[in-house]
Amino acid sequence: MTTTPTDRDRTATRLLRSSAEHSYDPEVEIDWEAPFVEGKYFVPPHRSSLYGTDLWERMTEEQRIELTKHEVASIAGLGVWFETILMQLLIREYFKQDPTAPHAQYALTEIADECRHSVMFGRMIARLGAPLYQPTGVNQWLGKWIAHTGVGPRMYAAILIAEEILDALQREAMNDENVQPLVRMVSRIHVVEEARHVRYAREELARQIRSAGRGRITFDKLVIGRAAYLTGTRLIDPRVYRAVGLDPEQGRRAARANPHHRETMRWAGERIVAFLTDLDLIGGPGTALWHASGLLPRPAATA
Ligand SMILES: [Fe+2]
Ligand SMILES: [Fe+2]
Repeated sequence: MTTTPTDRDRTATRLLRSSAEHSYDPEVEIDWEAPFVEGKYFVPPHRSSLYGTDLWERMTEEQRIELTKHEVASIAGLGVWFETILMQLLIREYFKQDPTAPHAQYALTEIADECRHSVMFGRMIARLGAPLYQPTGVNQWLGKWIAHTGVGPRMYAAILIAEEILDALQREAMNDENVQPLVRMVSRIHVVEEARHVRYAREELARQIRSAGRGRITFDKLVIGRAAYLTGTRLIDPRVYRAVGLDPEQGRRAARANPHHRETMRWAGERIVAFLTDLDLIGGPGTALWHASGLLPRPAATA
């Protein structure tokens, strides 16, 4: 099946050239044996989910650093999870396309990027000595479902939500001198390569919306809202709070009520929310999920 509006392949050709020039092998670019730097955080402290809360004030500096270590492990764990879904979706899309078309070739190139990223994130989680924080229960089931069935706008929008939120956090972390060099380097590699993925998915999503039917978009809005809810509420897995002696539910509630954390989620979601709003993909049956996700400007977040 070759639907080839020329702008599709023009973009893909540019992205293939950029991939050839700016791709990184984390095995050789990162010094995996380097010790952690004493006193440095693993996410910028003001982005910690408990920053500014009473719980935060009662923690020692070591505990605060330890919490951010588990928070970055949680973000990376969710990142790997989404990447594994994305790789499955892209390989299926690729299988339907003409392998001589640049658009198809770029899909394969993006899978290659994600393969390296997932190894990199996995390796970082192991180096942190943190547990693997990944979605469980119904979220895990939904992940499997979308990995097997995701197509069209819901597939690209769900991918973009995860990619763009991670991107906002990593762009800041890579430039923050309070952050551990390992995390900064992992973030930098990911940011450079993800810029291409975001471009590819944004253009493809906009193209698909222009040609999609109304009924189809209604169902997609529900799935997109659920993806936003999962990303917003599970970016920081409540189990991270155990690392500093807190009950997960107590930590989750404190984070949900924390104005700093709410602002962080809103800020991280800003660009993707604006983009999806322009395409009219936020709303309909997904409205309540978006509000509960904490990613919208004024979230009704009291859960
Ligand atoms: Fe990635
Ligand atoms: Fe990506």
